[in-house]
Amino acid sequence: MNIAPLLEIEQLHAGVAGKEILRGLDLQIYPGEIHALMGPNGSGKSTLSNVLMGHPAYEVTHGTIRFLGRNLLELPPEERARAGLFLAFQYPVAIPGVTVARFMKAAVEAVRGREQVRAAALLHEMRETARWLEMEESFLNRAINEGFSGGEKKRMEIFQMLLLRPRLIVLDETDSGLDVDALKIVARGVHRALGPDTGVLLITHYERILNHIPPHKVHILLEGRIVKSGGPELVAEIERRGYDWLRESAAATS
Ligand SMILES: Nc1ncnc2c1ncn2[C@@H]1O[C@H](COP(=O)(O)OP(=O)(O)OP(=O)(O)O)[C@@H](O)[C@H]1O
Ligand SMILES: [Mg+2]
Repeated sequence: MNIAPLLEIEQLHAGVAGKEILRGLDLQIYPGEIHALMGPNGSGKSTLSNVLMGHPAYEVTHGTIRFLGRNLLELPPEERARAGLFLAFQYPVAIPGVTVARFMKAAVEAVRGREQVRAAALLHEMRETARWLEMEESFLNRAINEGFSGGEKKRMEIFQMLLLRPRLIVLDETDSGLDVDALKIVARGVHRALGPDTGVLLITHYERILNHIPPHKVHILLEGRIVKSGGPELVAEIERRGYDWLRESAAATS
């Protein structure tokens, strides 16, 4: 049987402010797979998430991105979400005066289609999901991200992810700020969201989170290119050896 990839990136070149950051990135994610993307500071990991979300400041100069067989680069950001792409960010912003419940209702309506959403059923689903994430019921009535602790912001992200039921989840993690309970929440959420039709791209430079979410495939991004791909054993190797040993092979191939 031929299974089509969820995400197919070919020879992606992209940059910001006239500077090329991604320089020929290839990546394929199939349904049911968890991929980890690792790499040193400044290697282009968040640039890739920004390009995937359609951030207007980032310019794609070459290459293609297909998501569920569609040309992702032609879709405006909200269409990408509707098609089943979910991105969580390193620095979520506060929206004063908008409660979590109202924000989520608008987001779910935008993604699932307004006519598909029944308010009472959605509220029930929100309450159940909040309970499952060990969040206080009052959380739904708080202004989104306002005064949220790092762990609460993280729960909020996972809460959104579960309610939006995406096909591809992209998490750009600074897990340095997360305590072990928050890490476990992320891991539980990812495992709940991951099904046979769903894929995950977990962007991180720490081994810690990958111990909770064991990836099927690991990719190392260096200077805008994936210079090495492998299995979970690569995570431990990076932890032990750092990235420098890969720089030489990167230089040799460029
Ligand atoms: N808006 C911008 N304007 C100018 N340069 C930018 C902008 N966004 C990213 N860059 C540059 O692009 C390079 C890659 O940044 P990026 O954020 O993708 O790295 P990263 O791999 O996510 O790093 P980290 O591990 O620190 O999160 C960096 O040199 C960064 O300074
Ligand atoms: Mg980053």
